[in-house]
Amino acid sequence: MDAGFARAREAAARMGAGDRLVLHRQDASAYTASAPFDVVLSVGATHAFGGLLPTLAAARAHLAPGGCVIVGEGFWERPPGTATLDVLEAAPDDYDDLATTVDRVVADGWVPVHGHVSTPEEWNDFEWAWSGATAQWALDHPEDPVSADVLEAAAEHRTGWLNGYRGTLGFVTLVLRPAPR
Ligand SMILES: C[S@@+](CC[C@H](N)C(=O)[O-])C[C@H]1O[C@@H](n2cnc3c(N)ncnc32)[C@H](O)[C@@H]1O
Repeated sequence: MDAGFARAREAAARMGAGDRLVLHRQDASAYTASAPFDVVLSVGATHAFGGLLPTLAAARAHLAPGGCVIVGEGFWERPPGTATLDVLEAAPDDYDDLATTVDRVVADGWVPVHGHVSTPEEWNDFEWAWSGATAQWALDHPEDPVSADVLEAAAEHRTGWLNGYRGTLGFVTLVLRPAPR
């Protein structure tokens, strides 16, 4: 996590925004702020708030007038079988299909102003990068006490993806603004 924070600081500094970046290391659901934000973002982390709609409710509380929420969430590309559910430790109703996911968001009082459905190529790249970089670190640090565990975790993730949720779990990123009341 420290490495991630350091990379974020470096990137912000490169973009000339280093003096405006504030990073918080805490449970996101406990976050409070004294001023609202023009953009509130949650990508792949709705579990922190107990699901998609609770995440949007939390985001709404931080949103400035005219602002937008960017939320990234999984959906069922096709009905999940037991292999998928086992690997993800998920229940069938943890996600909906894409149309139902968007319908629920709209019924909750949001207007999608843009969206992106991750392509199979993007999923492949993400998963190979995740498991590949993790395995690479383990191979390059054989003396590290966690090296073997890290190599095993990389293999477990890779096989879980290939045998479990590849092609079944989709991912959508929505740009949302509150619907007029
Ligand atoms: C699937 S990752 C997504 C990470 C990042 N948003 C991205 O798109 O690459 C989920 C992240 O949520 C974080 N997370 C889980 N529960 C959380 C919580 N209660 N508060 C803050 N972060 C949490 C995890 O540590 C993990 O980094």
